[in-house]
Amino acid sequence: MLHVAVIGSGTMGNGIAHVFAQHGFPVTLIDISQPALDKALGTIGKNLDRQVAKGSLSEDDKTATLSRITTHTSIAEGVTNAQLVVEAATENVDLKLQIFRDLDLYAPEGAILASNTSSISITRIAAVTKRAEQVIGMHFMNPVPVMKLVEVIRGYATSDAVTQQVMDISRQLGKTPTEVNDYPGFVANRILMPMINEAIYSLFEGVAGVEEIDTVMKLGMAHPMGPLQLADFIGLDVCLAILRVLHDGLGNPKYAPCPLLVNMVMAGRLGVKSGEGFYTHT
Ligand code: CAA
Repeated sequence: MLHVAVIGSGTMGNGIAHVFAQHGFPVTLIDISQPALDKALGTIGKNLDRQVAKGSLSEDDKTATLSRITTHTSIAEGVTNAQLVVEAATENVDLKLQIFRDLDLYAPEGAILASNTSSISITRIAAVTKRAEQVIGMHFMNPVPVMKLVEVIRGYATSDAVTQQVMDISRQLGKTPTEVNDYPGFVANRILMPMINEAIYSLFEGVAGVEEIDTVMKLGMAHPMGPLQLADFIGLDVCLAILRVLHDGLGNPKYAPCPLLVNMVMAGRLGVKSGEGFYTHT
């Protein structure tokens, strides 16, 4: 089994580490803060407990999954054995570019460098390395242990061989990989974010209230969550950042973020993570 390093132990990083370890891959989970790593291991344990309680995982599998995860607070030391690195750090361009410069220095020559970015260009990330053909997007969906999709994003220079390998690895995780090209928002967010933005515009313009908008989409379109509830779950700051990438990158005014979204983010109403968004979260 390939040795995998996951950079970042937040919601996406711990979900990605969980899924790799559950499917037999040895994983090094890397974050700059040991308390964040300890918290991530606690979250993985709880999410594995849910699977044990549902009968989809045995207690022995849970123990084996946890035993496959080691933690590290240094990229330089944590990636020395990695054959695949999946970066899932905060969605900040400068931070990601710095991480990829470091990965290029410290990860073994043949290692594939993947990013879980939801909208930053893979081509731009790849350009700071000397192995652009080995840089690729592996965009998992939240909650990672539950959602079946991996959006596999080919940068301008990503090789066919690396793309095939990442498609195969995604299948080994029980996921359905889908290959897409590197343009703003890829496919998932190019379609999802305008829907969320339109839901926010519907609220802003007084077409309907929060619950009414979500009910229409949940019951009328069989979405598991309404768009405003989903925006809270993703994080309103993340939604705004992705809309700005679409607006800047595609140059079409239809992607302009709704002023209500901009105001809510400025006011610190970020959804589940801040306790308040379109809904109150306790
Ligand atoms: N780990 C393991 N299992 C989990 C879990 C986790 N973190 N979260 C939920 N589950 C499991 C539950 O145990 C449950 O299992 P069973 O089906 O076996 O009973 C199942 O998932 C459903 O969970 P719940 O019953 O608690 O709740 P639910 O039915 O309301 O489903 C949900 C929760 C799966 C989150 C569902 O509401 C949903 O699919 N929502 C939409 C999610 C979505 O759209 N995600 C994509 C967001 S966009 C993104 O991630 C990318 C981006 O770039 C912005």
